Amino acid sequence: MLQKPFTIAISGKGGTGKTTISSLLVRSFIELGEAPVLAVDADPNANLHEALGVTVRETLGSMREEAFTRTIPPGMNRHDYVKYRFRQALVEAEGFDLAAMGRPEGSGCYCFANDLLSECMLNLERDYHFIVIDTEAGMEHISRGTIGKPDMLLIVSDPGARGLRTISRIREIATQLGLEKEKIHVVFNQYKSGTAPVDIGDESPIAIVPDDPAVESADLAAYPVSLIPAGSPARIAVRALAEKIRAMAREKGSG
Ligand SMILES: Nc1ncnc2c1ncn2[C@@H]1O[C@H](COP(=O)(O)OP(=O)(O)OP(=O)(O)O)[C@@H](O)[C@H]1O
Ligand SMILES: [Mg+2]
Repeated sequence: MLQKPFTIAISGKGGTGKTTISSLLVRSFIELGEAPVLAVDADPNANLHEALGVTVRETLGSMREEAFTRTIPPGMNRHDYVKYRFRQALVEAEGFDLAAMGRPEGSGCYCFANDLLSECMLNLERDYHFIVIDTEAGMEHISRGTIGKPDMLLIVSDPGARGLRTISRIREIATQLGLEKEKIHVVFNQYKSGTAPVDIGDESPIAIVPDDPAVESADLAAYPVSLIPAGSPARIAVRALAEKIRAMAREKGSG
């Protein structure tokens, strides 16, 4: 029997490492034998594909526009056409698929389109154990309901006091939107050894990812960050995070 996939949304302030952590999570799940993973780039300034080392031909945003303005092929209704195009827009790679949401073009009502897209996502979902969604800074997607309700929300933050306000703001919005408190976790990123991470209250971070020169070099060389050497500190930390998430997903009976 096919199981419901376990959906993880990665949020956080701009530049905290959402895309880096998302791509390393995808890589880790594959290593753990959980392929295929669905990676969703929900950031309009999408760059998850670069972190994963694949090319995106088109985004769902542009496809959505086209699927609703163009004449559809004879013998196909619009519904089927959108589904068909959705499959086409999906990037299939070794161990994972990638869907880039992009930016919806034009204006007008997308309610019908959005419903269809959610349905396509649902249809797709059946194939995957884990879905990793890299979101834009802020909580736009979750508040608009575009990505539905994730099984887990990770808030990526720097481990200093500066991140505290964003952590509590995102927590607050997510809770208001009906996400249970126990599904929200903090990931400290770019932790420098010798420093003490800030206290985030009654709950400890689910992972602390070190500041890693390999991540920086990959960035400078425009090399896919998910492919940094297996012994790199950031990769080891995210792999441990993936194992933790998998254990939690299994407890829930999905993933
Ligand atoms: N653990 C790390 N060690 C070293 N550098 C890191 C680490 N994590 C992220 N970085 C660097 O920090 C920068 C921002 O990372 P990233 O693009 O993943 O953040 P983001 O939250 O997705 O940003 P945006 O909000 O622009 O989408 C990049 O230059 C990246 O290489
Ligand atoms: Mg990003």
